[in-house]
Amino acid sequence: MTDLSFATRLIRWQKQHGRHHLPWQVRDPYLVWLSEIMLQQTQVATVLDYYPRFTARFPTVAELAAAGQDEVLGLWAGLGYYSRARNLHKAARQVVETFGGVFPCEREKLETLCGVGRSTAAAIAAFAFHKREAILDGNVRRVLCRVFALDGGAADKKFEKQLWTLAESLLPERGGDMPAYTQGLMDLGATVCKRSKPLCGGCPMAGICRAKAQNLTAELPRKKSAPEVPTLPLFWLVMRRPNGAIWLEKRPPEGIWGGLYCVPCFNSPGSLYAAAAHFGLLSDGLEEQPAFTHRLTHRLLLITPFCAPVPDSLPGGLSDGLWADPHDSGCGLPKPLHDFLLSRRLGKKTARP
Ligand code: ADE
Repeated sequence: MTDLSFATRLIRWQKQHGRHHLPWQVRDPYLVWLSEIMLQQTQVATVLDYYPRFTARFPTVAELAAAGQDEVLGLWAGLGYYSRARNLHKAARQVVETFGGVFPCEREKLETLCGVGRSTAAAIAAFAFHKREAILDGNVRRVLCRVFALDGGAADKKFEKQLWTLAESLLPERGGDMPAYTQGLMDLGATVCKRSKPLCGGCPMAGICRAKAQNLTAELPRKKSAPEVPTLPLFWLVMRRPNGAIWLEKRPPEGIWGGLYCVPCFNSPGSLYAAAAHFGLLSDGLEEQPAFTHRLTHRLLLITPFCAPVPDSLPGGLSDGLWADPHDSGCGLPKPLHDFLLSRRLGKKTARP
């Protein structure tokens, strides 16, 4: 049966085998947008955990726009890629200020929102407004490269343009089919046409898949060679009062962990010692901990924490900071700091029974 179109195969398969009970499968563009941003670099299972808490606190775009950044980052903490949360907050304010609190339905206008690229804008337009707009994320790229045996390089602009043109040419005729079609592409990429060990036996495209016919499935899509990421050494000053409170400072808005709360963080042990001296701490009162790594998209962090038990009388620093139970303050913490404090049982909640 090779006469059925790509779209028809996909829609039929999605209706029978795809995912239908995800909480963001609704027509409210706010809820669709929120889910698409959360899903940009995060697995569905993780988003299922965060999404209900976020929507319970911010049921509408107006409520999100009215919130303070700390609260938004606090609810986002653990999802990673915090620029997404900062952009999300900015975009909510854009919707209120520029679009009168109502999401636009055109893909081009959705693309003007902070953090919304072409594929995300298309997904919102397709799910919430049944617009015939094509998505092209990593999963969809893999499906198209395999079904049509396309052999271009991942960083090649011309090839990228060809993929967009192909994706647009495959759309179903009827706007009403767009949610099933778009979800079908996502579902197929995530559950069948997987990067490794694809399940070609259960694929609705098996009859027309050129990579399968040419035994190229394992080769496609061509990978771009992983770029070397530079290592950035960081040194943390972890000051803990007897009651478990840790000194946390708000990070500058841009850069690593922008807007989150973190212990004082330095590029060299020397600058850490100098800052510790400002708190009245001598270097021999600092307990150096084993260094550990944390991978960000463009950096490998090599973090060395220095722990210092301090008396309650120790004042805070001069900068924007506070003494807080790090696990109970509602402040968003960088994931490696959260994990480090938990592993060391630092912080009130986990300190001794
Ligand atoms: N990944 C990106 N968007 C998604 C969606 N709407 N459902 C499942 N996975 C997704």
